[in-house]
Amino acid sequence: DRTERVVAGLPKVSLHCHLIGSVEATTVVDLARKHGVVIEGGRTAEDLFDHDSYEDLDEFLRVLDVAGSVIRDADDFHRVAYESLTAGGAAHNVLYREIFLSPPGHPGVPYRTILDGVRAGMRDAEADTGIRSNLIVGLNRNGSAQAAYELVETVIENRADEVLGIGLDYSEAIGPPERFWKAFRRAGEAGLNRTAHSESGPPHHIETLLDLLGCTRVDHGYHVVDDPAITRRCVEERIPFTCTPVSSDIGRYSGSGDGTHLRIKQMVDAGLMVTIDSDDPPMFGTDPTNDFRALANALGYGLDELSALTANAVEATWLDETDRAALR
Ligand code: ADE
Ligand code: ZN
Repeated sequence: DRTERVVAGLPKVSLHCHLIGSVEATTVVDLARKHGVVIEGGRTAEDLFDHDSYEDLDEFLRVLDVAGSVIRDADDFHRVAYESLTAGGAAHNVLYREIFLSPPGHPGVPYRTILDGVRAGMRDAEADTGIRSNLIVGLNRNGSAQAAYELVETVIENRADEVLGIGLDYSEAIGPPERFWKAFRRAGEAGLNRTAHSESGPPHHIETLLDLLGCTRVDHGYHVVDDPAITRRCVEERIPFTCTPVSSDIGRYSGSGDGTHLRIKQMVDAGLMVTIDSDDPPMFGTDPTNDFRALANALGYGLDELSALTANAVEATWLDETDRAALR
């Protein structure tokens, strides 16, 4: 229909998409066969990403671990990055993406292998479709503060132009974000940009991200609107919030009550700088077009409102002003 065509053609800038979370189920099954890995429970491509069954974040993270564990050599990383950026990105008119990597999600794989494979996939995707991309290395909050610090050291030792910054993801149930202050401080000293997930956490976690961890963006951040003073501050400072309507709604772990789209409406209406993305598209049965369509349907947004969200995403990138201007 018309909405579908308009939404599909809308230029998009993708700031919240995980590499492991953007692997197609058929690719996971292929790679498992290639590496002689038997997928737990004998699950096939058809029932691997049963998104209706994710009752909480941990259940979803277990599926993510299966996918991460079969992406092993540079060719695998090339393939996954390429597929995510072409069929999962350029085909939806995504012009630019900052991809989250999760090195701890690929046990035993050297950082260099991940980086080199993904960069080759990014180069080929750009050559074939024009999509541009950069990288964010996600620290795993289920791991120790020491492991996070060491990962930042590894990122710095293997400096690459594509790595624009770091993030913080996996389970928030493990505890508040301040545990990772040393890793974030080290990243800041090295000139890396910083963001962090705050999906289910209370508003004061968002203050911690800004004041202690030096974040200039917040991933999800739905509970910011529970605190008027913190909301006002984030409006004034134009802090971007990378929201994911479908994954956070299906996931049922964001604690967004009436639905994530209503949280997002509150955030937009409060004047916050909201961007839209898919998080882990195939794992939540979504894609870049579908997230905008879901929001348009739920909130009655038309082209003007949706274009404003893309304009926010352009401003929220970690590109320099020249590269940003090229996206406008
Ligand atoms: N890793 C991939 N998607 C995630 C999410 N929504 N929350 C935390 N960690 C993640
Ligand atoms: Zn995420």
